[in-house]
Amino acid sequence: MQIIPSGRPLGAEIAGIDMRRPLDAGEVAELKQAWNDHLVLVLRGQFDVSLDNHMTFSRHFGKLALSPPSPVTGKRGQYENVPPEIAVVSNIEKDGRPIGALGTADVKWHTDSSFFDIPPAGGLLRAIEVPEDGSGATSFLNLYRAYEALDDDLKARITGKLCNHSANYDSSGRPYPYAETGDPTKSPGARHPLVRTHPETGRKCLFLGRRLDAWIVGLPVEESEEVLNAVWDHATRDEFSWTHKWLNGDMVMWDNRCVMHRRDAFDPSLRRHMQRTQIVGTRPV
Ligand code: SIN
Repeated sequence: MQIIPSGRPLGAEIAGIDMRRPLDAGEVAELKQAWNDHLVLVLRGQFDVSLDNHMTFSRHFGKLALSPPSPVTGKRGQYENVPPEIAVVSNIEKDGRPIGALGTADVKWHTDSSFFDIPPAGGLLRAIEVPEDGSGATSFLNLYRAYEALDDDLKARITGKLCNHSANYDSSGRPYPYAETGDPTKSPGARHPLVRTHPETGRKCLFLGRRLDAWIVGLPVEESEEVLNAVWDHATRDEFSWTHKWLNGDMVMWDNRCVMHRRDAFDPSLRRHMQRTQIVGTRPV
């Protein structure tokens, strides 16, 4: 196995792994260490990978989470006929209906499913078909570095504070049908510390979820907005980020506890089709 760092604050390519074959204990340990060191790993050229291969590979890193149920239909596995552990991210339509989530829109910076009490520890997304022009790239943020570089005043204002992670909007910013609007203090969701400690590395990082409809519990909304704007402006700076341009067959795995991600919009005439598993996490502390 070869580990090739991106040269940015996070991200590394791993060469020499074929997801279709069993990994030995040494390889698993090396991959876990690389994941903790680089936060996002890319395995190129993973072709002819079945859903079973994808799930078996993912289980090396923990128990598989069920994909989030659609808030509209209540169904898991979203629109395609896939097991409940698999989420489909796709703009492809069959018989006029989307076969996956997120379409072609830009997807804002977010942590996956942080509006649950126990958000996933990681996501493993494999590109089956992506635009050849490199559009629809996905960017990632290193939230350890962002936390460490915060100025003392802002650090003090968020230390020990909980943030409400609103479940009112999807990651492209669209309100779910039940969305309450106008008062983030009343939004359904989960409350997590703004600064969490990673359960494996023991390092502190920001844990922000989504900007839209977020609220620092206990603060007047105006003050919460001021602090959150300052933290988000800081955390989303280019110096903490790295962008991945997809090729068919790329498997990208991110640590959802210390990384946020976003995706560029792309031309709706292009096809982009992916499948994702998630690893069960722990309650953020
Ligand atoms: C996501 O936000 O989980 C999707 C990322 C992508 O489509 O690249």
